[in-house]
Amino acid sequence: MVDARDTPARARHALDTPSPWVSRFAMMLPDGAEVLDLACGRGRHARWLAARGCRVTAADRDPSALAALDSVAGVAPCAVDLEDGAPWPWPPASFDAVVVTNYLFRPAFDRLGALLRPGGLLIYETFMQGNAAFGKPSNPVFLLAPGELLERTREAFTVMAFEQGEVARPAPAMVQRICARKGHETGRLPEGSA
Ligand SMILES: C[S@@+](CC[C@H](N)C(=O)[O-])C[C@H]1O[C@@H](n2cnc3c(N)ncnc32)[C@H](O)[C@@H]1O
Repeated sequence: MVDARDTPARARHALDTPSPWVSRFAMMLPDGAEVLDLACGRGRHARWLAARGCRVTAADRDPSALAALDSVAGVAPCAVDLEDGAPWPWPPASFDAVVVTNYLFRPAFDRLGALLRPGGLLIYETFMQGNAAFGKPSNPVFLLAPGELLERTREAFTVMAFEQGEVARPAPAMVQRICARKGHETGRLPEGSA
């Protein structure tokens, strides 16, 4: 069913507005935290994080998307193809948090953990199986299997929160999302968690 509120302006707003899942957990990061926004696109999360005092590396292969971040204080744009097989340009344990939204490249998943410092946060949200009923992405290569983020974080992380299922906003979709802390210490939850 078409929602009359789903105007182009509304769609643009969704592209520029941080995901509530990301902001809920990223709120916990201290001033000066170093964060990687991986496959950042136009940088909706990079901007939000930088405005909160984080130092953000915003990585994407699309130079036109990165260009919009050139003059944003606290954001260092980084042009990189994450899938070309070359080593990524960051040493291990470079970041206090890694944020990934609406992007999936399974062969590199384990590199995310290596990039985090002990206790660092992985905040991940993307589409899952069943999304084809709503549109793209519909290729299984880009869709998580049920419980896949839990499975992929099982050994090296402690899961703080996990959800999967259908959402109505910002557009109808099947999504999966996790916030997990590197290591095996159970830490604090964000304020406002039930
Ligand atoms: C759907 S957008 C998501 C952007 C952003 N994370 C967000 O949620 O607003 C996917 C992004 O992944 C980037 N991307 C796709 N393949 C990539 C690759 N091989 N290396 C780097 N970035 C890639 C695209 O350029 C695009 O900006």
